Amino acid sequence: MLSSKKTRTAFFCSQCGAEHPRWQGQCRECGEWNSLIEEHIPDRKKSPARSGNVTKQLLSEISQENLSGFTSEIGEFDRVLGGQLLPGMTVLIGGDPGIGKSTLVLQAADGYSRQGLPVLYISGEESLPQIKMRSQRLTVAGERITVINCTAIEEITGVLSENDYAVVMVDSIQTITSAQFDSPPGTVGQVREAANHLVTLAKARGFALILIGHVTKEGMVAGPKVLEHIVDTVVYFEGDSSRLYRVLRAVKNRFGSVAEIGLFEMESDGLGEVVNPSAFFLSGEPHTPRAGAVVAGVCEGHRPLLVEVQALVTPATYGNPQRVAGGIDNKKLALLLAILEKRCGYPMATHDVFVSVAGGLRLTEPGLDLAILAAIASSLTNKPVSADKLVVGEVGLSGEVRAVVNADRLASEAAKLGFKAIVYPESNRSHIGSPDLEMMPVRDLQSALDRIIG
Ligand code: TYD
Ligand code: MG
Repeated sequence: MLSSKKTRTAFFCSQCGAEHPRWQGQCRECGEWNSLIEEHIPDRKKSPARSGNVTKQLLSEISQENLSGFTSEIGEFDRVLGGQLLPGMTVLIGGDPGIGKSTLVLQAADGYSRQGLPVLYISGEESLPQIKMRSQRLTVAGERITVINCTAIEEITGVLSENDYAVVMVDSIQTITSAQFDSPPGTVGQVREAANHLVTLAKARGFALILIGHVTKEGMVAGPKVLEHIVDTVVYFEGDSSRLYRVLRAVKNRFGSVAEIGLFEMESDGLGEVVNPSAFFLSGEPHTPRAGAVVAGVCEGHRPLLVEVQALVTPATYGNPQRVAGGIDNKKLALLLAILEKRCGYPMATHDVFVSVAGGLRLTEPGLDLAILAAIASSLTNKPVSADKLVVGEVGLSGEVRAVVNADRLASEAAKLGFKAIVYPESNRSHIGSPDLEMMPVRDLQSALDRIIG
């Protein structure tokens, strides 16, 4: 007879949660090295009895009256969540330690509570006096915010079933444990168990749930990726902790778009919204042309964003030329340099190239290609680009300049900020027109560079 005490173990990846039967150096799902940790597999009953309380309803008859949502009145936060927080909706906020997750969530709690919504803030990391200190710094009154310092899921379940809260926040999910489970806090098993339990409760009782998850690079603490499939919405709070701005980015959203970003600035009294992002990311004096600096336009979600791209190109003196990219992918830079060398004959193989996006913003939008190439060509030839020219366009492998999305929004943003000209893909021609801008449609990289640097 099999003993019921016998527990099986398996190896779980602390980055993505994948289960492996035996230890190996690299996770076969996500490719991370040294991330497998041995954990117990919870006992599952073979054939659970039917509880009989499954709700069955015709789709046409399901009422929507409970679906009016809550807004925090922090515009940047609400927009990334898809406009509002709905009852039963579950959100995971991931980010590096110290980036400002607890600050953001407490400010959001303040927003909800000011509208009369009861909020529960569960902290497993900070003591109540510490949270009080933070709330004073943020001038959060907290009249409807109940704070508990607790890590046991059984206690939390008790509190949640005795009271009705509209929004429940957990800081952080990695500190919550279940006594039924004998792994240490933060392991894949514990984190999943706690999150599953809370998500089920949120759906059943109709409160909105916000979980905070730290991104961890090493150690045995499970990262937020492990939970991405359990929740409705996953957002990451990122930024360079040495800089003041922060970006909130949705990577999964069952109730809204994942293209939206929210921009914040960390100040001495908490996070402030960045309402005019383009002005924020253009570095310094706008009308002095400099070699190697080009203003690019990209659309993050519905948001036009004008950012300065800077390049520094110097003769390579030792061995392999250096390629260092800040804010864009290194491989992307290598690809763009190959296009520049092959299609326009610039001698990139003998030069070191450094590229960075002003403000340290991380961008993946292909519409940035042309501006990066123009900045590199401008630095190499030491010819400045006039600072009131906006450059927009994706560049293909054969050097063709391809259409971008939302070119019209970029043009109107540029006109609003006092730009005089816009260099953009010919194929976007029918979509944009602005009386205040000189329009410079281009078809291929060489003719674009002629017009930009010319
Ligand atoms: P925190 O919200 O504790 O980060 P996380 O929960 O993601 O670990 O914020 C951490 C940093 O933010 C900390 O280094 C101090 C700074 N900070 C400010 O600059 N201003 C503020 O008003 C607050 C509350 C924090
Ligand atoms: Mg925190």
